[in-house]
Amino acid sequence: MDKIEVGVLGAGTMGSGIAQVAAQSGHKVILVDVNESALEKAKKSLHAITSRLVEKGKWTEAFGNEVFGRIHFSTQLEDFAKTEIVIEAIIENIEVKHKVFEKLEKIVSNECILASNTSSLSIASIGSVLTNPERIVGIHFFNPAPLMPLVEIIPAVQTSEETTDFSKSLIDSWGKLTVLAKDTPGFIVNRVARPFYGEALRIYEEGIADFATIDWAMTELGGFRMGPFTLMDYIGNDVNYAVTESVFSAFYYDPRYKPSFTQKRHAEAGFLGRKSGRGYYSYAVDAELPEPTVNESLGQVIKDRILCMLINEAADALFLNIASKEDIDTAMTKGVNYPKGLLKWADEIGLEKVLSQLQHLFAEYGEDRYRPSPLLKRMVREKQTFY
Ligand SMILES: NC(=O)c1ccc[n+]([C@@H]2O[C@H](COP(=O)([O-])OP(=O)(O)OC[C@H]3O[C@@H](n4cnc5c(N)ncnc54)[C@H](O)[C@@H]3O)[C@@H](O)[C@H]2O)c1
Repeated sequence: MDKIEVGVLGAGTMGSGIAQVAAQSGHKVILVDVNESALEKAKKSLHAITSRLVEKGKWTEAFGNEVFGRIHFSTQLEDFAKTEIVIEAIIENIEVKHKVFEKLEKIVSNECILASNTSSLSIASIGSVLTNPERIVGIHFFNPAPLMPLVEIIPAVQTSEETTDFSKSLIDSWGKLTVLAKDTPGFIVNRVARPFYGEALRIYEEGIADFATIDWAMTELGGFRMGPFTLMDYIGNDVNYAVTESVFSAFYYDPRYKPSFTQKRHAEAGFLGRKSGRGYYSYAVDAELPEPTVNESLGQVIKDRILCMLINEAADALFLNIASKEDIDTAMTKGVNYPKGLLKWADEIGLEKVLSQLQHLFAEYGEDRYRPSPLLKRMVREKQTFY
């Protein structure tokens, strides 16, 4: 892949990480932010990161200087004039994104690809303001962008094949693992992962177990790197709640994605997680983490319930052609570090067993959130496996 000039708009958490990844891969990067102080902060932090990598011996001094030297900081959109792709990572607000993309198209060349790193907005809507909407594409990195290997590539209905192919090859050449996802709410990861939080919260609300016990079941018995409550505290309950709410409304209030009052109240109380010193757990210096109830059979019930809900979500994403089975599994192992791809895991457990757990929950609660995916039902009937 040629070392083209890459534009990154927005120098916040994601924008500065994306700029680093592009510069590391040898591209000249133009990093633009309207806010001088945000730009200054990004400059300092990128300088600190490159210096640290040199100090640790991961990079030579010359390479560190080269990478930092390739990033040009600016407050002017006009500096994107020579770029061949611009990746936007500004505030998550559709009106603001519309205005910015309209302006951007007047500055860049006719061939320049315009990409958005949005987590929750529709790529089709962002592209709707363009005169040439074939150049719009979603390129969704995970935080922190330099460390997380996964990138979701999201063609909109307007996107040309050339735009998608070019974007995919470019991001692959940056050493990332790309997956293709349909332009639907949450793409792959933020859709399929919902039950990890939602079902854990529901189990807590029913009084089946406390936070520590649910976390213990998912890490010790499920092999997940972090339990759901530890992870929500890490992400921030305000942020995680907002994503759930936005996915829920974007799916026309499908009860499967219904947010939880427990999380809402924690967010309202300012119990945001690590960043506020308290979430589901206390992060005070002298705080002791609560002990889980180490009960193997209770733990299995919790783990199986959350896991079968996750598998159902993954199967339904496949049923609705959101992505291929390989991409759905890669997305969850590389984007959110799940110990196994959910569809591969389903094969190992046995689809019949997964379906029967879901049918049991559906019969018990009579709630639509537990409805099994038609694909699972069909596959069990036809004695199929995913792989
Ligand atoms: N934070 C995450 O974990 C994460 C992960 C994946 C995707 N995203 C998406 O990436 C985008 C950016 O998120 P973030 O967390 O980096 O936000 P952030 O708040 O850290 O940074 C946004 C930056 O955009 C700048 N900005 C705002 N309006 C602008 C404009 N009109 N022109 C130029 N710059 C402008 C701000 O000054 C700020 O520096 C959002 O669309 C978000 O949904 C975030």
